[in-house]
Amino acid sequence: MSNMSRRNFILTLGASASAALLAGCNTSKNSSTSSDTVSTDVVDPGGYTLVEDGKLTVAAELGFAPFEYMDETTGEPVGFDVDLIKAVAEKLGLEASYLPNQKFDTLVPLVKQGGKCDVAIAGITITDERREEVDFSDPYLDSNQAIVVKKDSGETEESLNAAGKKVACQSGTTGDEWITENLADAERVPLDDVTAALTGVSTGLYDAMVIDLPVASWMLTKSFSDLEVAKEIPTGEQYGIAVSKENVGLAVAISSALQSMETDGTMKKIKTEWFGSEI
Ligand code: ARG
Repeated sequence: MSNMSRRNFILTLGASASAALLAGCNTSKNSSTSSDTVSTDVVDPGGYTLVEDGKLTVAAELGFAPFEYMDETTGEPVGFDVDLIKAVAEKLGLEASYLPNQKFDTLVPLVKQGGKCDVAIAGITITDERREEVDFSDPYLDSNQAIVVKKDSGETEESLNAAGKKVACQSGTTGDEWITENLADAERVPLDDVTAALTGVSTGLYDAMVIDLPVASWMLTKSFSDLEVAKEIPTGEQYGIAVSKENVGLAVAISSALQSMETDGTMKKIKTEWFGSEI
C-alpha cells in the first residue's frame, strides 16, 4: 500500500472503530449525552476512546528533566511535558493520570499495543520509523542533540569516532541512533537511565554521552558541573505526543488542544516557566 492509501485506510479504520465504540460506551465526548457532557473550548475534535473514563492515562520515562522527572519531595511526576499534558487533558475535560515509570524504549510499543495508556509524552521525537507504529499529535517543541563529555577532556566528535571509545546513550533514543550512524568506530553503550549514563561520563567509565540538548543543558547546570557540551548537533527534531493508530480521534483532539493552548497563551506560560523567555 502506498503511504497515502495506507493512511486513508487507517483513517477509515480509526473512524469505524470509534463509531463502533461510540455505540457501546460513553468514552467519547462526541457520544456525550447530557449526563457525561464536559465543557471544553476545543471545537468538535471527533470521537476517541479512553483507557479509563474521564482520565487521560499517560505513559512516560520519568528521568528526563526538565521534561519529566520525579519530584523528590512529593513523589509526583513534574516537568514541562507534565504541565503540558495536564493542560491538554484539561482542555479535553479530562484529568491526566500517570502510569508508573516506563523504560523509554517500551513507550511506543506500549501505545501501539493499546489498553494500558492513552498517550505517551516523554520528549519523544517524531520520526518516520515511529510513525509506522503510532500516530503523533502536531509537534509541540523543537530539539537537537548534544555530545556531552568531561570538562577539559578535549574529546571531539572526531576523536570519539575511534576504537576503544565508549559513547553512552539512552536505549532506543534518537541519540542512540545518531551514534550508530555517526560514531561507527566507537563502542555504543545503550543504557536505560540518563543519570546513570551521565554519571558514567563523570567517573570516566564512558568517554561521552549523546542526548537531547535541552536535557544536557539542564542536567549539566543542575547536577553535573564537571561535564560540558562538546558539540551541539543540529538534528532538527520535533517532539510529539504518541497516540495509538486505532485512536485517530484522540490525536486530532490533542492537536486541537495544543492549538488552542498556543492561541490562549497557555503554551507560552508553560514554556516560560520551564525555559525562561528565550524559547
Ligand atoms: N528525543 C529523544 C527520542 O525521542 C529522547 C527522548 C527520551 N525521553 C525520555 N523521557 N527519556 O528518542
